[in-house]
Order: sequence, then C-alpha cells, then structure tokens
Amino acid sequence: MKNEKTLNHENELKKANDYIKENGASVQGKKSRLKMHFMTPLGWMNDPNGLVFHQGEYHLFFQFYPYDVEWGPMHWGHSKSSDGIKWEYLPVALAPSEEYDYSSVEQGHGCFSGSAISVEDQLVLMYTGNVDGRTPRQTQNIAFSKDGRSFSKSSNNPAIPTFPNEATEDFRDPKIWKKDEMYYAIIGTKKDGKGKAAIYSSLDLKDWEYRGIATESNGQQGDMWECPDLFTLDEQDILIISPMFGTKNSSPYYLLGNFDYDTCKFEQKDFFTLDYGKDFYAPQTFTDGKNRRIMIAWMNIWFAEMPEKNDGWAGAMTIARELTIKKNKLYQYPIVELNDYRVDSELVEDLQIDSKSSFNTSLTSASDVLLTIDMEKSKAEAFDIFVKCSKDMKEKTRIHFDLKQMTVLVDRELSGVGNKDNSVAPLSVNDGKLLVRLILDTNALELFINEGEYVVTNRVYPTNSDELFVIKSEDLLIIEQLENYSLKMEG
Ligand code: FRU
Repeated sequence: MKNEKTLNHENELKKANDYIKENGASVQGKKSRLKMHFMTPLGWMNDPNGLVFHQGEYHLFFQFYPYDVEWGPMHWGHSKSSDGIKWEYLPVALAPSEEYDYSSVEQGHGCFSGSAISVEDQLVLMYTGNVDGRTPRQTQNIAFSKDGRSFSKSSNNPAIPTFPNEATEDFRDPKIWKKDEMYYAIIGTKKDGKGKAAIYSSLDLKDWEYRGIATESNGQQGDMWECPDLFTLDEQDILIISPMFGTKNSSPYYLLGNFDYDTCKFEQKDFFTLDYGKDFYAPQTFTDGKNRRIMIAWMNIWFAEMPEKNDGWAGAMTIARELTIKKNKLYQYPIVELNDYRVDSELVEDLQIDSKSSFNTSLTSASDVLLTIDMEKSKAEAFDIFVKCSKDMKEKTRIHFDLKQMTVLVDRELSGVGNKDNSVAPLSVNDGKLLVRLILDTNALELFINEGEYVVTNRVYPTNSDELFVIKSEDLLIIEQLENYSLKMEG
C-alpha cells in the first residue's frame, strides 16, 4: 500500500509524457530553437545527468520540469544518440513520487542531479532525492532499466540515506564509476564554509560505505560544491567542480591532482577555469565506445534571463566536447562527429585585413568557422570578429582579441536581448599561430582558442540578425586560412 505521501511513479511519468506530447509541438517550430545543440523539448531544463555510453548508444538525461519555463519539481528527461550530436527524445525517465523525492506539501522536491552506469544489460541511475523540509533533505538513490527506456526506482532506496558527519544536509549530485570490482560515487557537499567532495564505495550498488572527504575548498574554491566529477585521463586525475559562493553559482573549474584509491584522498596540485563564458554550468563527463572522455554542460547559468522562455522553453546543452590533456592542461574540443553535419563550405586563403579592407561574409544561423591566424606576419596588436550582426551593424556580438594583454573578450553589449555581461579569457599563440574556432547557433556561441586550450561559451540572442560575420583590424592581420561551414541536421 502506498501512503498518501507518495505517488505512483508510472502515473507521474505518464502524466509528464502526455503533457509533452500535447504541448511539445508548438514549441518545436519556434524561431528561437537551436539547430545543432541539444535543448529541452519544452519547459525548463538544467544540468546534464546520467551521461553514459550504453549498448552502443549515447544517453543524455537532464534535469527537467516539463510543466513550466521555470525550475520546478525535478524530473529526469531522457534522450539518446548514435553519434553524440543528434539526439532523439525518449520518454521521461524519473518523476518525483517517493517519500525521498516527493512531498505533497513542499514545492522544493524532486529527482535532483546524478549519473548513470552501464552494468551488463542494465542501465543504472544514481540520483539525489530532495525534499525540502524533510530530515535529511537530500539522499542518494538508485533506479534501473533493462530496456534503456523505462526506469524503476530501487526498493532499497535511499541507497545512501543520510549525509556523513563531515558534511551537511546539502549533499547531492552523485557521480558513479567503477574501478576494478568496486563502484564509487563522489558527492558534492559543504561544511564550515567550505565546499567538499565525499566518497562512497559499494560492491553491489546496494550497500554503500562512506570513505571520507576526498578534498575540500582551499578557501577560494567555493562554499558548496555541486556536480563533482572525478576521472583519470592520460594517468592524470582530474576533479571537476561546479562551485557556489553563497547563493551564487560560479564558473566550473577543474583540479589536477592525485586520487589515492586506498585512502580515497584527492591531493590537489593546481586548478583552472574550465570555460570562461557566462553560460556554462554543471558539466559532466563519461567515456564512450571509442574510449574518449566526453563532456557536456548546461549551456546556461542560474538566474540568466533566458529569453527563449517567451517561446515556451528554457535550457540547452553545449556540443559534446572531447577532453584531452596537453601541456598539463585540459583541452576541450567538439567531438569530430560534428564535422559530419557540415553542408556548405567557403574557404579563403591568405586573407589580409587592415584599416582599408575588412572581411565580410554571410553565415547561416548554424555555422562552424575556423581561422588560422599568422601572428608572426601580422602587425596587429588587436582585432575584432563580429558575429550575429544585423546589416546596419547596430546589433552585433563583438569578439575582441587583444594580443598585448593576451586576452579575448566576448562583448554582448549590442548582441540583442538577454544578459549583456562580458566574458574574458586568456589567449596564447603557439608556433606563431592563433587558432580560432566558432560554433555558432541560433542563439549560442562556443568559442575555442587553439583547439580547445581556452573555451568561452555564451548565449547571444540577436533580435534582428542578418548573420553577418565581419573581421576588422586597424593594422595588418594575416589570416592564413578561413574555413566557414554551414551546419545542418536533418529532421
Ligand atoms: C546544479 C544543481 C544541482 C542540483 C540540481 C537541481 O545546477 O543545483 O546541485 O542537483 O541543480 O536541479
């Protein structure tokens, strides 16, 4: 017998799926929809969850509230892909229904963020159940699927029923992985003004043993850690954190260090910003069938304006990025499968730009533009690329390269609607060359410097774009090569 504090999970899923069927179509046709990026079918979406490669397919789950364009009781939306770029929506995977993730009195409840793991023929999810006002508020739970489509919550839930002494009731976002015969989960938390990451281990996904705090904020790394993700790449241990400072979410960063499986301690060596843009949060990584480490992030940030709300949807993901280690840094670059969607191309070689000759071209709303700039032959100490411009250039997004300061600025002041704050990232020139790649979509701009050494992700919302693309420089700028591809996804 279900008590009145719980709901029937299947009914809740059916309710959500019926709602999406009835209301989704009107959203799909909106002009604000992205062409190449994954986005919510309707309503609200935040973090990517449960990224996993299972039985030859990519799965992407997401924090989802189908019924409104604002955050609400969290469901897990679900989609899959054969190439990591083109996604197909599947039925909603999880809805709030149990004592540990639903409450009839409180609005602040739901199936919060978590991760997935492929275990033989089963797809296993681990997520945080949140119920505001309940003690403990956040617990870790398991759900299973045999067919990769419909999920049942484990009768053994909550699998981790409370937080350890070294943590507090903010205790969420388990990221699960397997090493040898053991499952591990790293969970974000806080105590005494410091963000922390707790480690648990289990042999059977049922009994979980607390193994301690792997590492914590050094005082500048946030007072709450969300969505921790710990993995090894090229023998380098990396911990990604989405930090909060007070009630403000800040740019995710990664820590390089050493994780010791015996003590479950992560020794921090260095930390770097992951993406310098304003619309990048809650990244999660996984390995795919080609043994690549791939990352996808929410391409928004908490409390952003998100003008697409007027069209019945809010929330998108970055393009899947492959992570690699080069020069002791994490590089991130769109997975090569994106190139399969290039339809038309323009190639310009040995382009010379100065005060008398700028470069103008017209793009389509989804484009992939690559520039190889010869900094040795160029005289310019600064130049600008303008994207998403109107013909009269009144509306534009300015990307300003400053080769004295070695910075790149994405200036959204005249971009259109939405948030206008700027982002600044470092620049570097390698072997005399500066490589710039721009992935442009209806209202998104992902900027990659030097094949992913620095990345800047922003939403830009032109109201009146003619998709004009312009390069300007006062002093001589020599572009060895400019490639411009339109991107297109069928159906
Ligand atoms: C991160 C986050 C997570 C939480 C989820 C709730 O953006 O706040 O910590 O689980 O979103 O939707």
